[in-house]
Amino acid sequence: MRKILIAGNWKMHKTSQEAVELINGLKRELADIQTVDILVCPPFTNLSEAADIIIDSNIALGAQNCHWEKEGAFTGEVSVPMLKSVRCTYVIAGHSERRKYFAESDEVVNKKIKAIKDAGLKPIFCLGETLEEREENKTFSVIETQLTGGLKDLKQDDLKDLIIAYEPVWAIGTGKTATPQQAEEVHSFIRKLLKEKFSSIVSDGLRILYGGSVKPDNTKDLINKEDIDGALVGGASLKVDSFSQIVKNSLG
Ligand code: 13P
Repeated sequence: MRKILIAGNWKMHKTSQEAVELINGLKRELADIQTVDILVCPPFTNLSEAADIIIDSNIALGAQNCHWEKEGAFTGEVSVPMLKSVRCTYVIAGHSERRKYFAESDEVVNKKIKAIKDAGLKPIFCLGETLEEREENKTFSVIETQLTGGLKDLKQDDLKDLIIAYEPVWAIGTGKTATPQQAEEVHSFIRKLLKEKFSSIVSDGLRILYGGSVKPDNTKDLINKEDIDGALVGGASLKVDSFSQIVKNSLG
């Protein structure tokens, strides 16, 4: 049985004071929830203070990105050991905004996933097709290429803590959610690939999140699908009410 994970990707939002307000509100609202894993991924600047607030709570902390080297002359970058030192336990890799605006290739995403795993943290590996690719019936081939590239050289044991997030680019920040059927179709395809490339232990155990305009009112229908194990939430994770409601609506 895969435990549902609801993750908030705050992207480039929240000053220090705003972040403290949001995290305190979530801690208050979600204190009783045990059957769903809850994760917040604030910007780098808010990680340390968020960690102090959620210590000993049911909310985990993640980062939105990382560099693959442990340290070095990489101005402006942040390494996985640095993220670990501020008590992050998850790191997102390969978000479509990183791929689009910062030219991240599957090869770079692969290096990041390896670095996250090697440090003992949990990678959230994002993939998804653009609208153009979907309209050209390339969804499955794009997903296969991204999955194969991102997981290159990894073995079954390396995927123990890995999470995949299917985020169709056309559904991100657009208010256009994939229908539960559209999402399920890709999720089950990803699971089939994982079985072929690794094993049924991997494909049965690995959590696959959906991301793209998840809101309180579409959460339940998405989560009810067999291969959808949670959500990676952007816009609706920025307010206490909407994120808390998404978590509550995902309860079985
Ligand atoms: P939205 O929920 O704002 O569409 O963003 C989804 C996303 O990109 C999460 O990583």
